[in-house]
Amino acid sequence: MKEKLEKILSEAKDAIANQADDISALDAVRVKYLGKKGELTALLRGMGALSPEERPVIGALANKVREEIDAFLTEKAEELKTKALSSKLAEEKIDVTIPGDDFEFGAHHPLSEVRREMTDIFVSMGFDVVDGPEVELDYYNFQALNIPENHPARDTQDTFYITDKILLRSQTSPVQVRTMEKQKPPIRIISPGAVYRSDTLDSTHSPVFHQFEGLVVDKGITMGALKDMLETFAKKMFGAETRLRFRPHHFPFTEPSAEVDVSCFVCGGKGCRLCKGEGWIEILGAGMVHPNVLRGCDIDPDVYSGFAFGMGIERIAMTRLGIDDIRLFYENDKRFLKQF
Ligand code: PHE
Repeated sequence: MKEKLEKILSEAKDAIANQADDISALDAVRVKYLGKKGELTALLRGMGALSPEERPVIGALANKVREEIDAFLTEKAEELKTKALSSKLAEEKIDVTIPGDDFEFGAHHPLSEVRREMTDIFVSMGFDVVDGPEVELDYYNFQALNIPENHPARDTQDTFYITDKILLRSQTSPVQVRTMEKQKPPIRIISPGAVYRSDTLDSTHSPVFHQFEGLVVDKGITMGALKDMLETFAKKMFGAETRLRFRPHHFPFTEPSAEVDVSCFVCGGKGCRLCKGEGWIEILGAGMVHPNVLRGCDIDPDVYSGFAFGMGIERIAMTRLGIDDIRLFYENDKRFLKQF
């Protein structure tokens, strides 16, 4: 029996050292030798056949064998755990020196960029930026701007109607009215945004484009103040040499009204390809807010006066960046967009 016990011990040791290369294999070894149906237990069942003198001796030996196997198992388990940890660490190691993947960066759309530049200039002069709805009431887009039903001016802005009373705004000027209804003077706002006209898409027209509206209302606002403000804007936008030219015009919501040109920033006014030989480039419409418009918003035209101006962001961007086809803005061709 003693020999059998020693054999079990040496076999178990051998199995632990050579057969158990992971935790579950080690467990299997434990079960095989120390488990309820294991070899050691089986052997001890035969102890009843021993003489009373032998029994304690073999019993003590069996205990020693169990303890020894147990100690080996524990030691091996530690060893396996350490090994598992270090291989996991090796597997998850990150090489921070590997060069990164090429990442293609986007860019701001030229229209957004130009709009931001224009906005910055006016914000630096104390203007607030105001938004308005693109789906608008006929009232704000036309009537409140002194363009009653059947007024010929409606024909110049081929409008998308949704119902008789609801339309896609054809200009940003309705934001003037919405602002003056809510806010009493002094008012100093700009409102950039999309506008819609039922134009056929070609190199200079698009059914959706962007306007940039400005409105100042206070006591003692004059046409001179309008000229001064637009000149400051033009010089910042197109260069310090820029001059302005005001041509008489008509808008129903301003009186007097003007169309405003800037001197060509490429040729300085001599005439070139950009200004088509004119020396001047038309950039905006402007004027003194019509008394009817003020009155409609409960602002007394005998006390207050104001000026308004509106320009196309596409036109400014095309002029500034030398782009000759408006469609390029909407095609999302990365080769185009990347250039700015
Ligand atoms: N809303 C006018 C247009 O679209 C532009 C404009 C705005 C003119 C403000 C004068 C004052 O043609």
